[in-house]
Amino acid sequence: MSYETQYAAYQQGIEDYLAGLFTAETPYKKLYEAIRYSLLAGGKRIRPVLTLEFARLGGIDWHLALPYGCALELVHNYSLIHDDLPCMDNDDLRRGKPTNHKVYGETLAVLAGDAMQPEAFRLEAVRTLARACGADGMVGGQVLDTVYDVRDAAGLTVLNRLKTGVMISAAAELGCIASEMPATMRAQALVYADAIGRGFQIRDDMLDVEGDQAVFGKPIGSDVQEGKVTFVDVIGMDACRQEVAACTETAKAAVAGWPDHGFLWELADRMVGRRK
Ligand code: IPE
Ligand code: IPE
Ligand code: MG
Ligand code: MG
Ligand code: MG
Repeated sequence: MSYETQYAAYQQGIEDYLAGLFTAETPYKKLYEAIRYSLLAGGKRIRPVLTLEFARLGGIDWHLALPYGCALELVHNYSLIHDDLPCMDNDDLRRGKPTNHKVYGETLAVLAGDAMQPEAFRLEAVRTLARACGADGMVGGQVLDTVYDVRDAAGLTVLNRLKTGVMISAAAELGCIASEMPATMRAQALVYADAIGRGFQIRDDMLDVEGDQAVFGKPIGSDVQEGKVTFVDVIGMDACRQEVAACTETAKAAVAGWPDHGFLWELADRMVGRRK
């Protein structure tokens, strides 16, 4: 099966699973509306795709890992709704659409994010997810990114690892857990995911400078406007390009010994030139 066909099949599974959440008739309908607006707005779904691919490579029917990948995607989406709020990055465009608080107001945007987290924690593999998105994971990274003034490569490496890397690593790990993957393979999966996560945020920062808003779906120049220092400022655009390429190579090398690594290799390769 081609990379595209496989990715589309994963994506469809993810969309269907997520579309089935927050559907009940309730007296607080606006909450569900606000949640579904962001959750079903056309994210790339790269994190749950990693979960499903690692579950498949671990030897199970990938459909069985949908609850794992989608739990993480819920937390990811809550983090984006809050990330765009005026008190954080103050952005008004995401996935080519007005951000959640622009449509529903700040109160519902905060509460929609609040409601998406516990939904995710109904999952069995809850400890892995909790570690990734808590104070010493994604939230810690968001604090470094918004409250502190990190300006050097070592500091930014930690910041990026926390705000973005740990969630991408957890996505892979959840696929490994779902499929009870052997420890040696699992360690290689984590090296792969770690490199993908590092490259992913650097590429995001590059696109914030040189991206096309119509494709990227987010405002260009948002980081500069918010006074953020990123790898683009610290090492320059060319070095960023090289760094993303190096991350791709590290990721590919980690799973090179796996007989069925085609999808993971293609996903890593596409990170270098991604435009959205
Ligand atoms: C955006 O993540 C936040 C970052 C960590 C850079 P994605 O680029 O995966 O966003 P969606 O889910 O596809 O919109
Ligand atoms: C977001 O980083 C990381 C999280 C939401 C945890 P950014 O602030 O760079 O993400 P975008 O560019 O708004 O998607
Ligand atoms: Mg941010
Ligand atoms: Mg942001
Ligand atoms: Mg960004």
